[in-house]
Amino acid sequence: MIIDPWSSTTYQDYARLRDEFGIEEFNTKLWKDLPNPHKLLRRGVIFGHRDFHLIKDFIQNKKPWAILTGLMPSGKMHLGHKMVIDEVIYYQSLGADTFIAVADLESYGTRGYSLEETKKLALEEYILNYIALGLKPERCRIYYQSKNQDVKDLTFLLGKKVNWSQMVATYGFNGSTNMTHIMSPLIQTGDILHVQLEKYGGSKPVLVPVGVDQDPHIRLSRDIAQSHRLFNVTKTKDNKIGVFLKVDKNIIKLLDEAELILKKLKFKKLKRITEYKAIYIEDANENDIQKINLEFAQNESKLGGYGFIQPSSTYHRFMTGLTGEKMSSSKPESAIFLTDTPKEANKKINQAKTGGAITLEQQKKEGGKPDQCVIYELFLYHLIEDDKELQSIYLACKNGQKMCGNCKKYANELMGKKLDDLEKQRKIAEKKFNLYL
Ligand code: TRP
Ligand code: SF4
Repeated sequence: MIIDPWSSTTYQDYARLRDEFGIEEFNTKLWKDLPNPHKLLRRGVIFGHRDFHLIKDFIQNKKPWAILTGLMPSGKMHLGHKMVIDEVIYYQSLGADTFIAVADLESYGTRGYSLEETKKLALEEYILNYIALGLKPERCRIYYQSKNQDVKDLTFLLGKKVNWSQMVATYGFNGSTNMTHIMSPLIQTGDILHVQLEKYGGSKPVLVPVGVDQDPHIRLSRDIAQSHRLFNVTKTKDNKIGVFLKVDKNIIKLLDEAELILKKLKFKKLKRITEYKAIYIEDANENDIQKINLEFAQNESKLGGYGFIQPSSTYHRFMTGLTGEKMSSSKPESAIFLTDTPKEANKKINQAKTGGAITLEQQKKEGGKPDQCVIYELFLYHLIEDDKELQSIYLACKNGQKMCGNCKKYANELMGKKLDDLEKQRKIAEKKFNLYL
């Protein structure tokens, strides 16, 4: 199976995706102790992750980490796009160093927009809404892929350790795929990894919250990060913890440096085998690997490497469109846009498919199906903050005490307020906007 990030496939069987691609389940333990956990975390909308433990550890221990997302300007911003930025705003509030890539090169390569068009769309449609939603632009770095020399350099340099077969296996590219499209996963890898360059504060955990369609890029970035490391810190087949040098130049000097790093970490029983380019740490156990790996990553740039820590990711479920298929900018009736007027949104809500029964009597008797209802999804993802209120709607629907007409009316009310408020915030942001962009 291949996940194609540029197709309009909808994904439903999230458990299967998790198994197939080795994504871990995002369980309660991961978010419970975070400060004011965001509703998307609490409600299982975030269903999977890679290495979120690391992020959690850094949040709790107040160590520096970064969050990064990218926006591909194509069409207007809708509620489906809003989820990632809600997450980013939450993590920014926890103190994450925040980066936002405007994926103008990707949009050019895969969607056929010119760089000028993407620029206008990115600013007027996306960034303005991000700020209106609560992103603090003064505490975040927003950049264009096409203008960021560090990202572009990495795109080229990191490509050294990826070959064509890997790209075909991951993305299904073929002989007629255009070259900019072929490069765009490497550009995204450049986005994701450049924040660990010295200039941006060096090696650190980076969280990339995405929909599962972006997982191929995450896998590629993690592979590339690892393959550019000078040292591999790992448990061997015979259960020893070891540090292995991966390059063939300056072996003696690099192993000397590695010993110094390990001594600084207070390990004493080191067994160096130079011809294997290895140092075994006999007084370390599995729980020490993360700490040792971080320390090595942070030292590698001084030793001529990059020291990339593999980026972490979380995956959210997709919102269903109001018509029942995928929410998409190209089908305006399926999506609520952040710039819709309350009246426009109400019309779409009124026409939306619900989980209600065919007749009122039947619904009273058998109850509705909130799990298959777009209106309920609106409450769950966007409109209701209070978990208790949400749960009472869920139960009342299931028990047949709630009817869809009323429910839609309430959704209209909440959505109307939200859109009015956004409009106000956009006006305010527009002033700041000139300041920052
Ligand atoms: N490919 C992403 C999309 O289609 C946009 C993107 C570009 C991105 N660079 C990124 C997302 C870095 C996350 C991280 O929406
Ligand atoms: Fe959906 Fe509300 Fe109808 Fe239940 S009552 S199916 S939640 S619209």
